Formats: sequence, C-alpha cells, structure tokens
Amino acid sequence: MARQKSILVTGGAGFIGSNFIHYINRVEPDIFILNLDALTYAANLKNLDKLSNPSCYKFIKGDICDEKLVYSLIREYEISTIVHFAAESHVDRSIYNPQTFIETNIIGTFSLLEAAKKAWIEEKIFPLSDVRFHHISTDEVYGSLKADEPPFSEKTPYKPNSPYAASKAASDHLVRSYFKTYGLPVTITNCSNNYGPYQFPEKLIPLTILSAKNGRQIPIYGDGQQIRDWLYVEDHCEAIWLVINKAEPGETYNIGGGNQVPNIDLVKQICSILDELLSDSKYNPHTQLLTYVADRPGHDRRYAMDITKIDRELGWKPREQLNSGLRKTIQWYLDNGEWIESIISRPQYKAWLEKNYKKR
Ligand code: NAD
Ligand code: DAU
Repeated sequence: MARQKSILVTGGAGFIGSNFIHYINRVEPDIFILNLDALTYAANLKNLDKLSNPSCYKFIKGDICDEKLVYSLIREYEISTIVHFAAESHVDRSIYNPQTFIETNIIGTFSLLEAAKKAWIEEKIFPLSDVRFHHISTDEVYGSLKADEPPFSEKTPYKPNSPYAASKAASDHLVRSYFKTYGLPVTITNCSNNYGPYQFPEKLIPLTILSAKNGRQIPIYGDGQQIRDWLYVEDHCEAIWLVINKAEPGETYNIGGGNQVPNIDLVKQICSILDELLSDSKYNPHTQLLTYVADRPGHDRRYAMDITKIDRELGWKPREQLNSGLRKTIQWYLDNGEWIESIISRPQYKAWLEKNYKKR
C-alpha cells in the first residue's frame, strides 16, 4: 500500500510517539518516518537514540500549528500517512495553564488537517485510497465512570472534565468533521493510560519509580481510590498500526489494557517490586514514602475501556499483563540512568521537583 511508504509522526520525541517510531522502525524497517516535534519540556530526543534502522528516520523541529511547514513537509517527503500524537498531555498542567492546550491540541490539529486537506483532497497528490490521517486521542473525553457503570464504548457521549480532556474532545470533533465534510480519510483511536519506557517523570508511574528510588515523597491525590485502566505502550503502538492499515476511514476505536486498578494499589505494587529490586535501599520498604496530598480539581474517579469493537473487527487484544509490564518498566527506569539524568538535570524540571516533591 502506498500509504505505508512515508509517514509523518507528530510529537515523536514524546513518550508514545517515540515508542511508536521504535515499533514501526522495527516491524516495517523500509518505511520512511519523518518526526515533527516542537521539543517542548515533555520531549527528549534521546528517546530515539537507539533506533534499529536510523537510515529510515528523520527529525524536523517544528510546530504543528505552522500549517505552511506541515504542508511543505507533506509535499517534500511525499507523506501519505500522518500519525498525530503531538499534544500537551498532562492534566495537572492543563488546570494551571490551559492556554497551550488550546493552541497545540485544537489549533495544532486544525492546522494539520488543513495541510492534509490541501495536499490530499485539493491537490490530490495520491489516490484517496492511499492516504490516512490517524488521530491519537484519550479515554478522558468520555468523562468519569461510577463504580457500577460499564466501561466506555465508542458510543459513549463525550463529557470531558478537564481543560486537557476538553481540548482533546474538540480535536476529535474537528478530525471527524474533516471526514464528514471533505472526505479526508481519517481514523481516531481513544486509549487509556499508557505506561512503559520513555515516559516523562511527571506522570504517576515514572514519578513514583523515581521518587521511591531517590527517597522523595510519593504523592497520592485525594483518597487514592481513583481507577485507571493501564495499557502497556507497545500494545498501544501495535493497535494504532493495525487501525491505520485495516480500519475503514471515518472509524473510531477504543483501546484499553483491561487493567482497572485504584491508584493506591498500583503505587503499592510498584513499591513492592522496588523493595525486591532495590533490597539494600535505605528507603525500603518504599511504602513509607506514600504521602496523601490535596486532590486534583475535577479529578475523574474512574476510566475503563470496552475494547470489544477493536477485538471483533480487527482482532486486537493487549498482550501485556500489568504485573509483568510494570516489572519491565521499573527495570527500564533502573537501567537507564543516563536517560533519567538528561531530564532531571534540566533546571526547569529540577525546580518543579523541588517545589512539589519533598525529600524525606
Ligand atoms: P508527551 O507529552 O509525552 O509528548 C508530546 C510530544 O508532543 C512532545 O514530544 C512535545 O514536544 C510534542 N509537542 C507538543 N506541542 C507540540 C507542537 N505544538 N508542535 C509539535 N510538537 C509538539 O505525550 P504522550 O503521553 O506521548 O501522548 C501522546 C498523545 O497520546 C497525545 O495526543 C495524548 O493526548 C495522547 N494520549 C496519551 C495517553 C497517555 O497515557 N500518555 C493516553 C491517551 C492518549
Ligand atoms: O487516561 C488517559 C490519560 O492518561 C491521557 O490522556 C493523559 O495524556 C495522560 O497524562 C494520563 O492522564 P492521567 O491524569 O490519568 O495520568 P497521571 O499519570 O497524571 O495520573 C494518573 C492518576 O494518578 C490520576 O488519577 C491522578 C493520580 N496521581 C497523579 C500524579 C502525577 C496521583 O495520585 N499523584 C500524582 O503525583
């Protein structure tokens, strides 16, 4: 299929985008991958140091809001697939500074859609059957579940609660509208919480691992009984690639890990794996670092994904179990001191850590 020859990945220096580039570079080594990333605080080019086939990869520093740049890249590199990860992704930051979420997540998605429409619909640089705009979204657009409610399906109405979730919901609607109005061949996936290598240590799992290792408080928001449905990042990458290649344009799929766990149980599970792996640590048992702190405003109580549709139509199920995925992830953070140093040595990150997370 022509649409597999040259792909534009946005946000490929972030957590999921870089895992996706590794995945494609390994399973489809002949596909040329162009990574467009603005290199915000959440990016790290070191994520891409160890590609299996670097000759089929190129990085461009740039903003997805720059429609002219995106259009010129589509033309110059004959891009037939866009895989759109770039976003402001951290809920807490969206609460205190929503502006960049509106700019990147909404305006950025709009400018990508416009550039793709110009090249693919107006100028018809490829047959429409060969192009695909794939948008990565989140379970947070559906709002919050009560304990006795069934998991979110693709038919669950949108009810976003944080500025982040609202910005992602807006971008999903824009993507859908470009299919309905202009016939742009789009697909959307909404997924649950990812975990795995290269995740920026502001998110719960890597923050817990690094705090536990370094004897900092591990902050638990509110009562810690909020439930998330954890998905191993490589399972997510496999599902995205399947949707891009097998799903009909205009379709939406939910992706989840089938692992609904209250935050406090998850954090205790991480502490107990660390007790074993770092048995000589002076912070052992690591649960001594757990610290209940003020809750996140508007904190969603529970997310869970119904993955019946992607399983039935495309034959996808997650492969990784939570316990083994967590072990692999923790081991990765313990083994990759240089990668961690490249983040914690940044003055901005250091200041954020010192301000919010006290050392015991
Ligand atoms: P991330 O924050 O780790 O990475 C985002 C990347 O986007 C960074 O490299 C950043 O530099 C880049 N970026 C930000 N603004 C940009 C701009 N204006 N132009 C170009 N690049 C820009 O995010 P992530 O966790 O990898 O999430 C990737 C996508 O998946 C996002 O769309 C997010 O909403 C979605 N998602 C994430 C999760 C999760 O658990 N992490 C779950 C569901 C959906
Ligand atoms: O559900 C998908 C979403 O998952 C993605 O769309 C977002 O981009 C991604 O950031 C993630 O959002 P969450 O808010 O769920 O992830 P986070 O790791 O920030 O928090 C996970 C849970 O842990 C959440 O209930 C808040 C809680 N938490 C988080 C942090 C950082 C704590 O209790 N303490 C913490 O220090």
